[in-house]
Amino acid sequence: MKVDVLLGLQWGDEGKGKVVDVLTPKYDAISRFQGGPNAGHTLEFNNIKQILHTIPSGIFRDNKINIIGNGVVIDPIVFKKEIDSLKGKGFDISGNLYISKKAHLILPTHRLLDEASEKAKGKTKIGSTLKGIGPTYRDKIGRDGLRIGDIVNDFEDKYTARVDNHKVILEKRYGFDYEKALDACEKEWFEGITLIKSFNIIDSEHLVNNLLKEGKSVLAEGAQGTLLDIDFGSYPFVTSSNTICAGACTGLGIAPNKIGEVFGIFKAYCTRVGMGPFPTELNDETGDKLRKAGHEFGSTTGRPRRCGWLDLVALNYSIMLNGVTQLIMMKADVLDEFDTIKICVGYEVGGEVIEQFPFELSEEVKPIYVELPGWKTDLTKITNQNEFPEELNSYINFIEEETGAPVTIASVGPNRAQTIFIETEEE
Ligand code: GDP
Ligand code: IMO
Ligand code: MG
Repeated sequence: MKVDVLLGLQWGDEGKGKVVDVLTPKYDAISRFQGGPNAGHTLEFNNIKQILHTIPSGIFRDNKINIIGNGVVIDPIVFKKEIDSLKGKGFDISGNLYISKKAHLILPTHRLLDEASEKAKGKTKIGSTLKGIGPTYRDKIGRDGLRIGDIVNDFEDKYTARVDNHKVILEKRYGFDYEKALDACEKEWFEGITLIKSFNIIDSEHLVNNLLKEGKSVLAEGAQGTLLDIDFGSYPFVTSSNTICAGACTGLGIAPNKIGEVFGIFKAYCTRVGMGPFPTELNDETGDKLRKAGHEFGSTTGRPRRCGWLDLVALNYSIMLNGVTQLIMMKADVLDEFDTIKICVGYEVGGEVIEQFPFELSEEVKPIYVELPGWKTDLTKITNQNEFPEELNSYINFIEEETGAPVTIASVGPNRAQTIFIETEEE
């Protein structure tokens, strides 16, 4: 058996959580492989709406193994809040959740360092979610991190040594007054550590590989999106992990030849939250219309998301980097009211047309659009692909032709049920 991977092809918030929840019944185990509580994955079903930050989106289905892999970074405070929120809704997940010993911990001072760093950057800030992601991965790569497996032995000493070091940086480098903020959250942080100890803490690379050996199926759930990847995203306006498919190998401990299907998920248009280039961004009424119709406000920070048309130059780049085998198109219903819909098929830079995603997305990059007719139909009630309006079929066909990848799911609303599986015609 192989691990199927589901990941975002844009700048995050494509709807990964919803689709992982929809696909979970087909799998034995679901695992997160990178990122941390910068993620906000929204699930809606049976009048429940839940935003997950650290816990995999397979958690609401019975008898499924959910794994937080070694590539993930965990904030015990956020983790505890998530568990409490699930308990409040009547879900006890303690038996189904497994946490890698090798996952790194976000310390309270990592969050403060994130805040201090963004403040110091001023106008050039990244627009981080301020969850401590960058500083935690920096400590991991710098071989200074603390891992889940560390919490069982002499943990307080290890913690104090790390935090003392962070205090020096906060004070000397940033002149950041950390004491009050640190005092306010340390107790809660250690309560979170106590809670984590009550879960299955394991060498998750063995669990995943053993599951495959036993013929069990595993779905890996990406966080963020390909254009936020630390190597290939719009650097430096990126997150601090490998969000691409290769990240599933390092973030779970599986070999590249163990990757099966790669589900690439994208919105029928485009959004971005935080700073950084966005060639098809619409700073006008059309952008506002997309934001309103799509409720485009961050699941983690509540910030308004920047909106624009679908960008096939960027999408093709993402498909290439990930080896996408199937495309999943989200939020088609958000375009229901548009007379016409634009798709970017190339960039013009200094009078030249390029179709390859460039090193730098400068202000000079101007999108070249084709315009397709809108469907002017309420898609949210549709239950079958045979009910698709002709214009929606044309929109999907155009994307398939331009990318060479099949669209196998179209999502027409936030609810679990509003998901249409598309049969592809036999060759
Ligand atoms: P993720 O981070 O990729 O899991 O995505 P988010 O949960 O941050 O953002 C996606 C948002 O769109 C959430 O509010 C979802 O409930 C919502 N959503 C998902 N699919 C659809 C859809 O097909 N149509 C509409 N209108 N909303 C959707
Ligand atoms: P999900 O998994 C959208 C963005 C931030 C910022 C940049 C760096 O819900 O799709 P970080 O906190 O990682 O230092 O922020 O990345 N960002 C996301 N944008 N969805 C996310 O996750 C994101 N996680 C980080 O807004 O621009
Ligand atoms: Mg999100």
